[in-house]
Amino acid sequence: MKIHHAFFVLVLALALWPWSPQARPLEEEPTLRQLADAKGIVFGTAVGDSFWGIDKRYQATVKRDFNTIVAEYHMKFGKLHPRPIEFEWRFADSIMRFADEQGMKVRGHCLLWHKEAGWLEKVNYSRDSLMFLIHRAIDSIVGRYRGKIPQWDVVNEAISNKTDSLYRDTFLFRKLGIDYIDSAFRWARAADSSVKLYYNEYGNEALGLKSQKTYDFLKGLKERGVPVDGIGLQCHFDNDSVPDLDSIAANMKRLAELDLDIALTEVDYRLSFPVDSAKLAKQKENYRDLMKVCLENSRCKTFLVWGVNDSTSWVRPYFKNRGAPLLFNNDYAAKPAYYGIWEALAGRPNAIGQGLRIRRVQGKPTAKALNQRKINGALELAPPSRTRIHVPTR
Ligand code: XIL
Repeated sequence: MKIHHAFFVLVLALALWPWSPQARPLEEEPTLRQLADAKGIVFGTAVGDSFWGIDKRYQATVKRDFNTIVAEYHMKFGKLHPRPIEFEWRFADSIMRFADEQGMKVRGHCLLWHKEAGWLEKVNYSRDSLMFLIHRAIDSIVGRYRGKIPQWDVVNEAISNKTDSLYRDTFLFRKLGIDYIDSAFRWARAADSSVKLYYNEYGNEALGLKSQKTYDFLKGLKERGVPVDGIGLQCHFDNDSVPDLDSIAANMKRLAELDLDIALTEVDYRLSFPVDSAKLAKQKENYRDLMKVCLENSRCKTFLVWGVNDSTSWVRPYFKNRGAPLLFNNDYAAKPAYYGIWEALAGRPNAIGQGLRIRRVQGKPTAKALNQRKINGALELAPPSRTRIHVPTR
């Protein structure tokens, strides 16, 4: 009887062993970075001020799970070129050095974006002066990192959301027309002959008005002989209303037929509060299926998430009542979404992910708590880590 009992326990233990969450620590499964490397996928994350913060888990997560970094803001025009006679390279150089030390790559984002143009917009420059200043900036920035940055977003968000106009009504477009776009690509190419040059945009992921305009615009660039190599689809999605995947795949197909590389450049799926396990499970599926769509298109080799963990994501300050959009929670623990990407890359379920339990949501967040970022949600148990900025000195 006793032997029979022991045998039963042994069989049960063997059956459960690989699937128990405690059975294998995270380190015993390949990391996302290893899986992406094996598949030749540029898999990255955006890094912000917390990169230089005191919480070491931020950089540890970056180098463990990603092979690429993009500066969330430190390499935008206004940040790299804060005054007409001054460039600020310290943050960008520090990111470059980290990537170099860790065998990672840096993606350049973004040379021209009307929202982050700083002083360029504030002074009423003549057309010629403006073109000169943009040329000088692109030449200096792309030239400085020549051969070290494989992809640059040259122009960001220049297409209008309105039905009656192709181009967004920005100070750049009003003053320079589309000349500045064509020229920006040409100047970037002149500064680095091997870099892949991208046009980056949001809301153009699935078939529809904006993606049609993006397509027409890119076709125009190609016809004019402008050196554009790729399209960036930002992919900032609301977890509750995601675009149809077949439609995204169809859009990617026609972009690839235009001879463009496709990069999913800023992926995140924001959740409504309070967070619960059903929303997290849906988020996992969303990440998994989007990665699958990318893997199915031979021109889609770049997939970047817009941030490292939930407490440092841009979503909370920018979207009312939305948050928890990323692969890691406030405590840098892998969320179901992490295992979604993992499954798509590995082509099998992850042992630990299978056993993942979601902590219970403790009460409904009040608007005040939300503002203070103190909500007691499943993924919001720890307050965001305080970031102290260390300015690199070399
Ligand atoms: C956002 C950053 O995440 C914020 O922290 C910053 O203040 C504003 O820009 N599309 C883009 C990104 O191309 O550069 C934006 O990043 C998000 C939307």
